[in-house]
Amino acid sequence: MNYRPLGKTDWDVSDISFGAWAIGGSWGHVSDHDALAALHQAIDCGVNFIDAADVYGDGRSERLIAQLKRERTEEIVVATKAGRRLPRQTVPGYSRENLTTWIEDSLRNLSTDALDLLQLHCPPTELYYQPDIFAMLDDFVKAGKIRSYGVSVEKIEEALQALEWPNVQSVQIIFNCFRQRPAEHFFARAKEKRVGILARVPLASGLLTGKLQPASTFAADDHRNFNRHGEAFDMGETFSGVDYDLGLQGVGDLRHVLPAEMSMTQFALRWILMFDAVTCAIPGGKRPEQVAENCRASDLRALSPETMAQVKRIYDEKVRPLVHHRW
Ligand SMILES: NC(=O)c1ccc[n+]([C@@H]2O[C@H](COP(=O)([O-])OP(=O)(O)OC[C@H]3O[C@@H](n4cnc5c(N)ncnc54)[C@H](OP(=O)(O)O)[C@@H]3O)[C@@H](O)[C@H]2O)c1
Repeated sequence: MNYRPLGKTDWDVSDISFGAWAIGGSWGHVSDHDALAALHQAIDCGVNFIDAADVYGDGRSERLIAQLKRERTEEIVVATKAGRRLPRQTVPGYSRENLTTWIEDSLRNLSTDALDLLQLHCPPTELYYQPDIFAMLDDFVKAGKIRSYGVSVEKIEEALQALEWPNVQSVQIIFNCFRQRPAEHFFARAKEKRVGILARVPLASGLLTGKLQPASTFAADDHRNFNRHGEAFDMGETFSGVDYDLGLQGVGDLRHVLPAEMSMTQFALRWILMFDAVTCAIPGGKRPEQVAENCRASDLRALSPETMAQVKRIYDEKVRPLVHHRW
């Protein structure tokens, strides 16, 4: 496992880290046993950074991480998020009172005195222009409730605007072979400002593992069943906003440029790590085997410039017209 600095914090985090949404909920049933086994596998592989949110399984992901931390001695940095408990996303919803409640809930779930990294969970675009909100986050740091803070964004504009606030340590953004726009518009600026980038939905919700078929089905409570077109939350998250059948065609094209020594999943993750502005990818994993496969991507050899150009060509031809202009 390789490690990269996270923003201007003192942490060096595993470049393949762990996304804890799927073990919490909204991805079909995952037992506590499997969820903990997946988490332990991650630590065994050298992962030292986990991304969660208060709403994942209504605190379940955070509680599982707390249990993991009780069972391990390694230092584990835990990022969580706040804001999605609001019934509707508004700037006034991010009040001191609400933030205090959400932070206290996460502290309780994670059995800790201070949150390592609190991320605002895809707040509305106008929020990124409000000095008061970022001053409030500074107050929570001063009060010792959070050690650092960052944002999780939907749009490039939000990511760029977040860089204007000096104490934002990280920006979490969708970045994968099918969502390449951040590399064009955002990475250079984030690197210049030494702000960490967490690449979320790195496997396009499983599409980029190459295992999905036109007839694949998902459990009733799996968002890949009920949110394909943004019916329940932002459509950009499920399959990273790419039409399912066109996404499968894109994966078919990627198969032709897949280096022999890696799986499609590892190819998708290694591609992300080719961008040095990225701090880490945070693939979700529900079982230890998945986690082990994902972590091995960290130590694979770099992709050739020719392969990178081919992935870009596949994106430009197949996917770009669908998503590039939308964010
Ligand atoms: N708004 C936000 O801030 C936001 C939104 C989305 C995600 N996130 C964060 O980003 C993380 C990752 O994104 P994501 O979970 O949406 O999607 P993802 O990482 O692109 O895909 C994860 C899913 O792919 C499958 N998978 C993972 N590894 C695999 C392997 N080696 N072989 C085969 N299948 C594999 C698993 O589902 P199956 O086995 O069921 O196929 C897993 O749940 C989340 O956990 C969360 O921490 C944040």
